[in-house]
Amino acid sequence: MVELHDQTLRDAHQSVLATRLRTEDMVPICSKMDEVGFHSLEVWGGATFDACIRYLNEDPWERLSTLKEHLPNTPLQMLERAMNIVAYRNFPDDMVKKFIHYAHKNGCDNFRIFDALNDLRNMRVPIETAKKVGGHVQGSLCYTISPIHTVERYVEDFKKLEKMGCDSLCIKDMAGMISPTRAYDIIKGCKDAGIKIPIDLHSHNTSGMTGLSYMKACEAGVDILDSSISSLTGATGQPPTESIVAALKDTEYDTDYDMELLMDIREYFNEVWRKYSHLHRDQALRIDPSVTMHQIPGGMLSNLVSQLEKQGAADSYDEVLKEVPRVRKDFGFPPLVTPSSQVVGVQSVMNVKFGRYKRITNDTKEYFRGMYGKPPGEITDEMYETILGPDWRDQVIDDRPASLKQPEFKKRRDELDDMGLLRKPEDALTYGIYPDIGLKFLKGDVTAEFTSDQLPLKKPEEKTEVIRRPEYPLQGKVRVDGKNYQVKMKNQDTVTVDGKDYRISVLFPDGQNKSSTKSKNKSEPSGEEIEVVSPMLGTILRIPVSAGDKVSAGDPIAILEAMKMENDITAPKDGTVKELHVKKGEDVEEGALIATLV
Ligand code: CO
Repeated sequence: MVELHDQTLRDAHQSVLATRLRTEDMVPICSKMDEVGFHSLEVWGGATFDACIRYLNEDPWERLSTLKEHLPNTPLQMLERAMNIVAYRNFPDDMVKKFIHYAHKNGCDNFRIFDALNDLRNMRVPIETAKKVGGHVQGSLCYTISPIHTVERYVEDFKKLEKMGCDSLCIKDMAGMISPTRAYDIIKGCKDAGIKIPIDLHSHNTSGMTGLSYMKACEAGVDILDSSISSLTGATGQPPTESIVAALKDTEYDTDYDMELLMDIREYFNEVWRKYSHLHRDQALRIDPSVTMHQIPGGMLSNLVSQLEKQGAADSYDEVLKEVPRVRKDFGFPPLVTPSSQVVGVQSVMNVKFGRYKRITNDTKEYFRGMYGKPPGEITDEMYETILGPDWRDQVIDDRPASLKQPEFKKRRDELDDMGLLRKPEDALTYGIYPDIGLKFLKGDVTAEFTSDQLPLKKPEEKTEVIRRPEYPLQGKVRVDGKNYQVKMKNQDTVTVDGKDYRISVLFPDGQNKSSTKSKNKSEPSGEEIEVVSPMLGTILRIPVSAGDKVSAGDPIAILEAMKMENDITAPKDGTVKELHVKKGEDVEEGALIATLV
């Protein structure tokens, strides 16, 4: 007999409805879902925590306890990103422990724990904590394809996870690219190696071959398969629950679930699907076998597309697709899953936009320092030096990253209490994990994008923008230090001021844009002033300098968040900050003036 772990209330809507399913649209069907007799239901964790506070104005903790109340008979599971909890960076041990404690208290029975790099050191604290609070621990390994991710390596790591005290194991194929043979070989390998605890296969429909892989998994002795109600599946979603139940009927793998009941649930979610029509994306519904070639998960692909569009670089999509595997090799073949997918994805975009490793994100540096965990494969000394500089050996840590972190929970709780916003201890976690959006939520300043009674919303009309190339010469007025100049742009790199031609030099790779035309104003020190501009569209996170500060070449002037990654905008040379032109929290365009140095 095979059992199903249903993902409808977590991964399904994360995969095909942008994680936007509201609790009020889950509750009415809970009693029926509870009746099926699923092995477990995944209802929490992953991106749902973030989506609740950011877009839905819902308290994720309340969602969990509400679901527990309406699903009393089925074990409820959360997806826990090891030391990243439900976010994108590493937290200290005390935050992880508190989170798991309160998750269990609010109704989470099973914890599926994974680390993006499959670094088992990052999984030890959450595994031990979940065991201690009385939870069922499912130790997960991210499935990926690379020369180092062999069947033997997976079997070895699963054996270690069993030894670490896990109650079950999971092959987490987040990209939906596991082939029937690989699924069979890994599961059979585990069974042959004497692993006793149940094995679960989590996959997505993306490649189109997942049904075949599930069948081979059954033949290899898989115990649990992940699925979602068909109404919320599509290509980037999971294999449909009802179809698996029907396919395995009258075989030795028969789930024995009631198909009539499943059809009622399907009918309900068909209605939900129609209600959430404004979130339908054609791309999420189409099978894409190319994933077996480029190995980029669907979620990451759609992310890349929207980021490239925002950066006005949609036409470099193919180039970025080619760059991702190269970057991944340079990084020691990390699986592409949150947050490593983001680090690799953004660095790939940077490499295409500015030249290979001409601009390196802070997260890439952190990754090379070992602050995400140990990269799975070898990284060359040359790569380390390219990313971290000649003293790279002093920067790379040996230990697990959380060992360098100071406890945070008490501090966060006290801060929140001082603001008068601590209504329950869980709030300290919401705030600690998402300091900006969490605080906004707790203050009551988040507006829900929509509530269930407003659905369906009218789908916004698709906009097609026509990009016009400028027709030279362009003429106009430019105001510099209170004086107007009549300028003419002859072509894209020559500008005429007062009858004299000047070449425009834009040095984006260094984050600087030397004044393209020297001011004709004689009282100004000519050529001395340097304008530091934003290399891309983003939000100013921090400004570590003030006007009047002396800076050396390479010092950060501002930290820009672009594509969810932090980037230093640095001083191109030694000097003094004359003026800052942006404020913390400000959104800036590519080329926006950040600071003037003298
Ligand atoms: Co998934």
